[in-house]
Amino acid sequence: MKFPDGFTWGAATAAYQVEGAWNEDGKGRSIWDDFCRKPGKVRNGDTGDLACDSYHRWPEDVKLLQEGGFGAYRFSVSWPRVQPGGRGRANQAGLDWYSRLVDGLLEAGIEPWITLYHWDLPSSLQESGGWYERSTAEAFADYADVVAHALGDRVKRWITLNEPWVVTACGHALGIHAPGFRRPYSALRVAHCLLLAHGLAVPRIRAASPGALVGLTNNLSVVDGVRIDRPPSKAARRFDAIANRMFMDPVFNRRWPTEIAGAVDRQAGRNLRPGDLELIGVPIDFLGVNNYSRTIVKASPLPLYSFLPVRPAYGHAAFTSMDWEICPEGLYRLLMGIARDYGNPPVYITENGAAFEERPDGGVVRDGNRIDYLRAYLSQAARAAAEGCSLRGYFVWSLLDNFEWAEGYARTFGLVHVDYEGGTLARTPKDSYRWLAQVIGRNEI
Ligand code: FCB
Repeated sequence: MKFPDGFTWGAATAAYQVEGAWNEDGKGRSIWDDFCRKPGKVRNGDTGDLACDSYHRWPEDVKLLQEGGFGAYRFSVSWPRVQPGGRGRANQAGLDWYSRLVDGLLEAGIEPWITLYHWDLPSSLQESGGWYERSTAEAFADYADVVAHALGDRVKRWITLNEPWVVTACGHALGIHAPGFRRPYSALRVAHCLLLAHGLAVPRIRAASPGALVGLTNNLSVVDGVRIDRPPSKAARRFDAIANRMFMDPVFNRRWPTEIAGAVDRQAGRNLRPGDLELIGVPIDFLGVNNYSRTIVKASPLPLYSFLPVRPAYGHAAFTSMDWEICPEGLYRLLMGIARDYGNPPVYITENGAAFEERPDGGVVRDGNRIDYLRAYLSQAARAAAEGCSLRGYFVWSLLDNFEWAEGYARTFGLVHVDYEGGTLARTPKDSYRWLAQVIGRNEI
């Protein structure tokens, strides 16, 4: 199966997961710096203080990208590295570091793709209310402007936010990610602020970076009821409204999903202003899709959240070490659904990949499980493209084994092994790295 001509092949990472250098060169604290220091929040008490140390080892990482044949690198900018206090004067040393990385990528023939928010909010903004406050959305647009002015002459691919649903649900409803709130009945207020931040930033980026393509990355998955052979249950449709359409309908159609429009009004309260949906619905150039699995839910008696995600019960279900079901066809169904429901926008898969734990043995890392996973998902992506979905590119998660949020270093998604056990942080390409390089070289699977 061929991928479309001009297909973008990339690898993805995020600042907090790979950079380290948590307090160097004037960087401010982020909510993840704080969260990791709270006992019991992250497996084994791990932190991103050092992570892959990409802050110092980035030339090696650029070389890995180049030798793997990747044409693009999706990385994120750490907001508190650029604006230590979240607002106002920029930290030139932080901007300079990103500028050197961008130059290094371009010299290696790799297109930089910047994500502006991959979860590391400056702590000072959390102290003034974080994503519960409209003022944070406004600060984000100013920050986007600062970064786009510094790098927008060379960077032409921009993603405003990574996975606003995960920020909303894991950070503010379930308490398992920073900032760690368990407040399910005000989380839609957060969702509104995040979407507003996105909408306010898009025109600022375009103004500072002529010719740029600007988009949003959502984590999306098809949702099935427990009887996976039946049409989606009521619980499945409700989950779909809250987790998927909540971050799609306002952006593409300037409306909230009907199932939750009333709840958004009640929860967002004074944050909500007339005209917000017009701001949020500013046209974007592409949609970034992160997909790993599908979701199966059963009915629950909770108000608003009348669903409960469950583990698939059918016999031959297979899982990665995150306990996420391997469901390649879910990616195909998802891509076809986006094309059908949202006017077939240009789509980039901005994350897809698998966690499996394997160790180097004599300089090689045999990760056949990961190759099987990638082959199956890429085949379904190619199938969707062949059937008319405007799929333009694919970024694997991730280039390196890195800090996997609440799971710390215990779950590894990298195509390149990083030696945490020995503490050397040495990079060893796995079999999957060489396998994907071949796919990229041929542009077919
Ligand atoms: C996504 C995140 C990314 C990574 C993968 C496994 O939700 O965007 O940072 O942790 O999951």
